[in-house]
Parts: sequence; structure tokens; C-alpha cells
Amino acid sequence: MAVLLTGGAGFIGSHTAVALMETWKQRGKKEQLVIVDNLYNAQAEVIDRITAITGTRPAFVQADVADRDAMETLFNTYEITAVIHFAGYKAVGESVSKPVAYYRNNLDTTLTLLETMARHGCKQLIFSSSATVYSVGDKVPFTEETKELGCTNPYGWTKYMIEQILRDTAAAHPDMSVVLLRYFNPIGAHPSGLIGERPNGIPNNLMPYITQVAAGIRPKLSVFGNDYPTPDGTGVRDYIHVVDLAKGHVAALDYAEGHTGCEVFNLGTGVGYSVLDIVHAFEQANGIHIPYEIAPRRPGDIASCYAATDKAKKLLGWQAEYNLADMCRDSWNWQKSISE
Ligand code: UD1
Repeated sequence: MAVLLTGGAGFIGSHTAVALMETWKQRGKKEQLVIVDNLYNAQAEVIDRITAITGTRPAFVQADVADRDAMETLFNTYEITAVIHFAGYKAVGESVSKPVAYYRNNLDTTLTLLETMARHGCKQLIFSSSATVYSVGDKVPFTEETKELGCTNPYGWTKYMIEQILRDTAAAHPDMSVVLLRYFNPIGAHPSGLIGERPNGIPNNLMPYITQVAAGIRPKLSVFGNDYPTPDGTGVRDYIHVVDLAKGHVAALDYAEGHTGCEVFNLGTGVGYSVLDIVHAFEQANGIHIPYEIAPRRPGDIASCYAATDKAKKLLGWQAEYNLADMCRDSWNWQKSISE
């Protein structure tokens, strides 16, 4: 019996690999973890680091999830009973300039995966979706029942479309179990400092930008807008520690084992922090001054985005545990380890 993580060498995938293997060890479960990743946006040494943290080496296959033959071989080699599908392009700005590449890659990988799973009778799938599907709404906190879904960029639309593909697939195959996880804003890193997020080039996201300012790689942070209808005028988001997020996948897998159909869950803390809250919390947690300037709003941003967390609490028995100081400390700990 094996669980497959597509994109398992990436930021969220690698933390989920650790969370799963640690849980199995605690439960005395003899399950195998298989990672497939084309290393497009990840390093092979992440597998060594997962091994160093957990004491067990996951199986690793370097392949593209859209490669039908490679996926067929993989499913012939391992007895895969469940898949957590992380693989995909994720840079919002790049998706605006290369929409076709984003639709091609994110949809193709998912369709090839679904076809392979069907041929091999694999019926459980957990999907990495995003709170970005809520980005046309304005009624925070966002609940899973929100109807007016929509996105502001092609990356987001790929998540939206894949959710629909998976809902349709689950409806057509009543013995399948599909769980859609809408992530809010994952930050932080494993407390060991061995795995974390490695943005390519100039970071788009707030926390990697702040840690690079702290490391002296960038002179100052631009705060995108201070005239939003929020307490201090800067954008409010639901930042969640990636280790908490990873544990949400363990809970989702447990849920999938006991249910059929398609269910969607928010994975967030339910607490919104502004950009300036994050800057100040980072300064306080790490004793480092973060210079910033107020810049114009970033196109596509919304004022506030945070999760309703009741459904995940009730049905998954999961809730976030780390606080903002932990997230700031572990983000900086990781940045230090990669800038040394
Ligand atoms: C972004 C993506 C979202 C994706 C998520 C992954 C957009 C519009 N949305 O979410 O689709 O799923 O990342 O984590 O890009 N900010 C600054 N200065 C910076 C960077 C960010 O002020 O240099 C502000 C933003 O305006 C926002 C907040 O910080 O208010 C968080 O931004 P970011 O980390 O990019 O995440 P999201 O925009 O919420």
C-alpha cells in the first residue's frame, strides 16, 4: 500500500511528506510514501532532507505527471491507494504572461493523473486548491459554501477548473473519494530549517520578500496599498504555518479513507493579519528591522481574505496550532539556512 505525492519535493509537498511519515510512524502503520516530481521548481536534495527529518527515505521518481508512460510505470511499480496532487505551476505573475503554458501544464497533469488512477483502480484523491478561487468575493470569512467563486489570474483559474473537473469525476464515479483543499497563505518552514520555500527570482509573496529584506538581499519591502477598507489600510490575509497545513493533508487523507464523494475544505487559521501586522510581528519575533515603503495597490489583490474554519474542525478534526510568532521565526530560520 502506498500514497503518492505528486510535486512532493515542493514547498507544501515536502512538509506533507514529513507529516505523513511521522504520523504513520506514530500509528505503527506500514505505509509507503512515493514522491513523483519533475524537479521543475524543486531540488533532488529535498528527498535527502525529508529522509534526515523522518529517518525513512521515501521512494522518489523523477518524472512529469503529464507523462502518461512514466505514470503508468509508476502505478505498475507501486500499489498506490491514494494520491495527494500538488504538482503544478504556481507563479501568479508568470501565469498572466504565459496563460497557455499554465492551462496546459496544470490541466494536463491532472487529467493524466485521473486517467492513470482510473486504469489502476485508485479511488482516493486530495487536491491542492487555493483560496484564490474566492478572490471575486468580499464577504469574509470565506466559507466553503460561497457560491460567487472566481479568480483574478490564470493560475487561479487552473485551480478553479481542476476543482470542477474533480467534482465531475467524483459524481461520475460514486466509489471515489475526492477532497479539495483550499489553502490560504502558507508561510513558515519546518522548524529543523531543512525544508522550506525557495522562490525563483524576486519573490511575489509577502513572507519570502520580507525574509529576503531581513537577509539584506533586497533593500526594502513595498507595501502594496494602504487605502483598503481594513483596520490599518493594508491587505488582510490568513497566514498559516506550512507544518499546520501539512497536517491538514493527513486529516484529509483519513477523511478520504472513510468517505466517498467530493468534499471541499478551507485550510486556514481563521485569523486575518494585515501586511503591517506581519512586518511588525516579524520584527518582534526576530529582532530585525524591516524597512518598507507604501506603494500602489497590486492589480488583482483584494482587501481581505480569511477562512471560515468550522467545517475543517468539525469534519476533519483539524485546526491550525502555530501562531504568527512561530511562523515568523521559522520563516527566518529557513531563510538564514539558505542564505549562508
Ligand atoms: C497570492 C496569489 C494567490 C496564491 C497565493 C499563494 C495574487 C493576486 N494572489 O496570494 O493566487 O494562491 O499568493 O501563496 O498574487 N504584499 C505586499 N508586498 C509584497 C508582497 C505582498 O504588500 O511585496 C501584500 C499583498 O498586497 C497582499 C499580502 O501582502 O495584501 C499577501 O500577498 P501574497 O503573499 O502575494 O499572497 P496573496 O496575494 O494573498
